[in-house]
Amino acid sequence: MTQLSAAQTGKTSSSDGSKALYGGKGTRRITVRDIALAKERGEKWPMLTAYDAMTASVFDEAGIPVMLVGDSAGNCHLGYESTVPVTLDEMTMLSAAVVRGTQRALIVGDLPFGSYQEGPVQALRSATRLVKEAGVGAVKLEGGERSHEQIRLLVESGIPVMAHIGLTPQSVNAMGYRVQGRGEEAAQQLLRDAKSVQDAGAFAVVLELVPAELAAEVTRVLHIPTVGIGAGAETDAQVLVWTDMLGLTGGRMPKFVKQYANLREVMGNAAKAFAEDVVGGTFPLEEHSVH
Ligand code: KIV
Repeated sequence: MTQLSAAQTGKTSSSDGSKALYGGKGTRRITVRDIALAKERGEKWPMLTAYDAMTASVFDEAGIPVMLVGDSAGNCHLGYESTVPVTLDEMTMLSAAVVRGTQRALIVGDLPFGSYQEGPVQALRSATRLVKEAGVGAVKLEGGERSHEQIRLLVESGIPVMAHIGLTPQSVNAMGYRVQGRGEEAAQQLLRDAKSVQDAGAFAVVLELVPAELAAEVTRVLHIPTVGIGAGAETDAQVLVWTDMLGLTGGRMPKFVKQYANLREVMGNAAKAFAEDVVGGTFPLEEHSVH
């Protein structure tokens, strides 16, 4: 099934368009209830990662309705080689900054590796920190059937959960970075994972690096929204890591990334221009001086 954009379907919202997640006129914080209503309307929505207050404020002003303080901060912000070393203290600090920098977006804080795998009680303790200390509106954790009980307890305790299946980067040491769900058995497992997180009460599920046809089927079968990254065009929402999307990340990009700017070049050129001005004595000028 091809999903049309909200604008194409004309089902964005009430008659004045005020309820659309993107482009809507509301200024209060988006909630998981708004996300559920968007799925009912067949409205697609964008999600970006954010790791600091200033970047988050730019995306908030641009109308991005959902921001993920992803543990991709490990690679994109903290200089680790993967998401595995990221700690709950780090996620709490980054999530609090993103909450402070935003007014409208729903902020989803990622539970890092080691903060929920022991079981539901550990997951609740970790998620409670993100909600109470950072102020996030929801948390995200990886895993389908294997994380069912964790999701169930968080949701029963009043913490909205975004699930994450397909490629789960915290398991890089076990599964590598490979497309998931290829072949009949793997596809069936992905469908079981998707239904399991929905049954546990997740309000949305990220599908990472999954064949487009399978992601479309999951999107058709579930009543909660799917958020795709490398999962084709038919998921309800799309997420990109902001440093990839704006061309700040160096090196080769995965095929699923679309680069909307080249910040690495812009920032590098600006840094060189500043350095040359300083070395050549053309900065500061009289206009930059105080007397
Ligand atoms: O940590 C992250 O940024 C993520 C997204 C890629 C979904 O999990």
